[in-house]
Amino acid sequence: MNIMTKPQAKQTFTVTPIKPKIGAEITGIDLAQPMDEATRQALYDAVVDNVAVVIKDQHLTPAQFGAAMALFGELMPDQIQTNLVAEFPMVSILDNFEKNSKGERAKLPTNGTWHTDHTNKELPPKFTCLYAEAVPSKGGGTSVVNMNAAYEALPAAKQAELAGMQTANQRISSARLAFGNPDTIAEQQRLAEPLMIHPLVRTHPDRGTKAIWFHQGKTETVTGMDPHETQDFLKGLLEEIIQEDFSYTHNWTIGDILIVDNRSALHKAGSDYDMNEHRKLYRTMVRGDRPV
Ligand SMILES: [Fe+2]
Repeated sequence: MNIMTKPQAKQTFTVTPIKPKIGAEITGIDLAQPMDEATRQALYDAVVDNVAVVIKDQHLTPAQFGAAMALFGELMPDQIQTNLVAEFPMVSILDNFEKNSKGERAKLPTNGTWHTDHTNKELPPKFTCLYAEAVPSKGGGTSVVNMNAAYEALPAAKQAELAGMQTANQRISSARLAFGNPDTIAEQQRLAEPLMIHPLVRTHPDRGTKAIWFHQGKTETVTGMDPHETQDFLKGLLEEIIQEDFSYTHNWTIGDILIVDNRSALHKAGSDYDMNEHRKLYRTMVRGDRPV
């Protein structure tokens, strides 16, 4: 179904902030229905203004979900190509019952540490969008943190020190291969892609604000450090700068969509649930600019 071919219409919706520095809940919109440009822009602004939004009570096929998120820009493929929606491959499936090629299930959720997606790419996604189809009875939430607020809370000298650093990224840092999916490690070795260099502190292209931005599991090195020093540095940095006021954990209800503005956020998947219960989210990503 292509919702762009339907007549456009204005939709009204309610934005209710969750916490002063992060998160808003959106109700009253139906993403299966067409929307006009003013509605689309209002939705986009709500994501950027609140860093992350939860859109409640959607009833979409995975393809409708993908088409709705494409209103925000070009969708980009998931580099994990093993679990895609057949009729709409720009939507991938995050499923804790999925097995790797050896028939093993992950013992813990992948990306259970703070990160932003696909930092080994030149143009990482500006938005990551998740849509819940199956959720555990308890736990398994997705956490988001406002990294602009974390940056702003630091003393000027620390801000300047971090702003002078770069990260070198690949699929899985050599210091973390023990945690990696063996299929992903094999693909990394086969592709032998060059390291992708990004700033540790990036500037939001729409707002001009600065945010600390990295994927710990994909950062091979930070300027001047070896891979193991890099892991210790990033772990310590997260412990130092992330505050409760800046972060929000979304505990899923079926039909929820979470959209994260990756240019000012990190996120992580919760590992605090019974892995015998099913957790299945659809994910699509909207391509962004090269971080600067
Ligand atoms: Fe992620």
